[in-house]
Amino acid sequence: MKFKALLFALLISFFTTFQSSADEGMWIPMLLEQLNEKEMRDMGMRLTARDIYDINNSSLKDAILLFGGGCTAEIISAEGLILTNHHCGYREIQSHSTIQNDYLRDGFWAQNHNEELPSANLSVSRLVRMEEVTAKMLAGIKPEMTEKVRDSVLKINRKSIEAAASKENTYEAKVRDFYYGNEFYLFVTEVFKDVRLVGAPPSSIGKFGGDTDNWMWPRHTGDFSLFRIYVDKDNKPAAFSKENIPYKPLYTIPISLKGVKENDFTFIFGFPGRTQEYLPSDAIEMITEVQNPIRIELRRQKLDIYESFMSQDQKIRIQYSAKDAGLSNGWKKWIGESKGIAKLDGIEKKQDYEQAFQKWVSSNTTTQNQYGGLIDDFDKTFKTLSGYQQQLIFVTEAGLGIEIVKAARTLSKLEEISRNKDVLEDDVKKEIAKAKSSLSQFYKDYYLPLDKKIFVKMLESYRSGLDKSQLPEVFAMIEKDYKGNIQAYADVVFGKSMFSDSTQVMAFLQSYKPSQHKKISNDPAFILASELSDHYLKNINPRVNVLEARVDSMMRLYMKAQMEMQPEKRFYPDANSTLRVAYGKVKPYYPKDAVFYEFQTTLEGIIEKDDPAVYDYVVDERLKKLYASKDYGKYGQNGTMPVCFIGTNHTTGGNSGSPALNADGQLIGLNFDRCWEGTMSDLMYDPDQCRNIMLDVRYFLFIVDKFAGAHHLIDEMVLVE
Ligand code: ARG
Ligand code: ASP
Repeated sequence: MKFKALLFALLISFFTTFQSSADEGMWIPMLLEQLNEKEMRDMGMRLTARDIYDINNSSLKDAILLFGGGCTAEIISAEGLILTNHHCGYREIQSHSTIQNDYLRDGFWAQNHNEELPSANLSVSRLVRMEEVTAKMLAGIKPEMTEKVRDSVLKINRKSIEAAASKENTYEAKVRDFYYGNEFYLFVTEVFKDVRLVGAPPSSIGKFGGDTDNWMWPRHTGDFSLFRIYVDKDNKPAAFSKENIPYKPLYTIPISLKGVKENDFTFIFGFPGRTQEYLPSDAIEMITEVQNPIRIELRRQKLDIYESFMSQDQKIRIQYSAKDAGLSNGWKKWIGESKGIAKLDGIEKKQDYEQAFQKWVSSNTTTQNQYGGLIDDFDKTFKTLSGYQQQLIFVTEAGLGIEIVKAARTLSKLEEISRNKDVLEDDVKKEIAKAKSSLSQFYKDYYLPLDKKIFVKMLESYRSGLDKSQLPEVFAMIEKDYKGNIQAYADVVFGKSMFSDSTQVMAFLQSYKPSQHKKISNDPAFILASELSDHYLKNINPRVNVLEARVDSMMRLYMKAQMEMQPEKRFYPDANSTLRVAYGKVKPYYPKDAVFYEFQTTLEGIIEKDDPAVYDYVVDERLKKLYASKDYGKYGQNGTMPVCFIGTNHTTGGNSGSPALNADGQLIGLNFDRCWEGTMSDLMYDPDQCRNIMLDVRYFLFIVDKFAGAHHLIDEMVLVE
């Protein structure tokens, strides 16, 4: 008895060291009142939880938008003007750019509403309300059900909850899983489909420091762009139309000119995409020691090729800049993440935690029966999964990731349905239209010599990265027909495939008859694409799916157990692209021995980095002039111009574009990144090293006002001096 009590005391003290610090966490807005309000106010906040999230009155949440698939934006004027990052609007800015009007290079500023540019593929959505629906979702679920039966019951419940909620009006409704399926929340959203580009600084400001500075502090990127929401005459979402008018929002965020001091309270309100804070050590090991190294290596190889072409030619730079930024972003993040976990002894920490967990489990027969085998099962499952993950990364990054393979795959469906003698003419027409539209997008940004280099490099890496038995069949053919010479194989594919010539494919589609399906299936790029996707679908995907489903159900149990084991701990659910609040303070940090990083950067730093010979560090002449004349207007502070600052808010991908708000809920910054030493925060948060990076809102205003001269936009905003 005595021993047990002692053991428990030890356990409790161990768990409290695992208790999240005040800075860690991405909290559910509707639960702030219950879980966080007191702490937030103790940290300096002057708002109430209801100022942030209220469904009966307009509140801050009405100004927060999910931007496109994976960023956040916020409403900063009564005329539907919205602010997000330059890197979030990047594809839109790029898609409107040509050699003559290169908005990426030169920036873009609409002088009036008529000049604002419609963005066909962009929508933004506002959360109307959320509601916990765990009981409704679990109705009819029994513990003895198999996972399959359980899933099918959940599916039915989900459908009926969503249908009931979206019946109310034109809103969209979705039920989302929290805590690995232990809880469920319903989200009702309003989706705006007419969103237009209003303004963007030149890349030399909006992407200053480029991929060299990406994920790093000290940072000097003016990472913002402006859009506007348009609605019908009743202020309701509508598809693009010339008749649409600017949206009148429920809430507009005021902008503070007061700036920040060390230890100021800040919070970030946005849509964090994905974190995995509750995984077992085996998973952390798989991610940081197996997956990341392969991905890092393959991405580096691609990036080297991209960059050698982009530096030669402005047209290729435009075509490949968004793709390059995407590849590079993952590449650098994974390096930081693996390093961060190693430096934190993250795997060992999790192992210690699991030992304590095991002790807790075996301290009682109920927990022993429920959770006894979990940790061992994780070990076995992740060992097997690791092997398949390697194959999965190779087939997706190195195989299916090749551009000509992607182009060929756009005709898969057309080829498939054409083989059926009774195929309907209408279905064929639809497929042709789809293929034409995606291929015309594709070829706009396609440069064959670059892709051919990637093709060779990727297939070579694929071949040398795995055991022969794990390779798709195409490699045996390359051995046999080309004596293993991948370059010779590439010459044939690119020489003979219709996909190497956009006019040829388009003409083919223009006059396509189902009887011509052999012309598709005999195309060498199409053959490769089919072999790769067959290999993926037959040999990798089913196994990965089974293993991941097993992990999911184990995680559901493990999550539940962790919450039972630490009943006083305040848990936050992993990010899942739903609206969250993260809060912390403005804080400097020590990234490594003897190095100290201040919390704020200024325009002086941009001038220090200035280097006309290095693409990422070219400073615009007009910006230099403003610097020389110290013409900062009301945006400067002590004779300088603040640019970015950092804080301890817990953020992740998807939080880009999120507003950084002060104790009064006024906009002080725009979240856009994290510091490199803390990129492991998606797996494990460290209050010493994890910092989010925000654009200082005064630099944004300065660029719009003084640099771009877009006073009409400033006039729309509510500035608090
Ligand atoms: N690292 C930031 C985020 O994950 C910014 C990425 C865009 N910038 C870039 N240089 N690639 O999204
Ligand atoms: N840059 C990320 C984004 O685009 C933010 C982050 O990962 O910290 O959402």
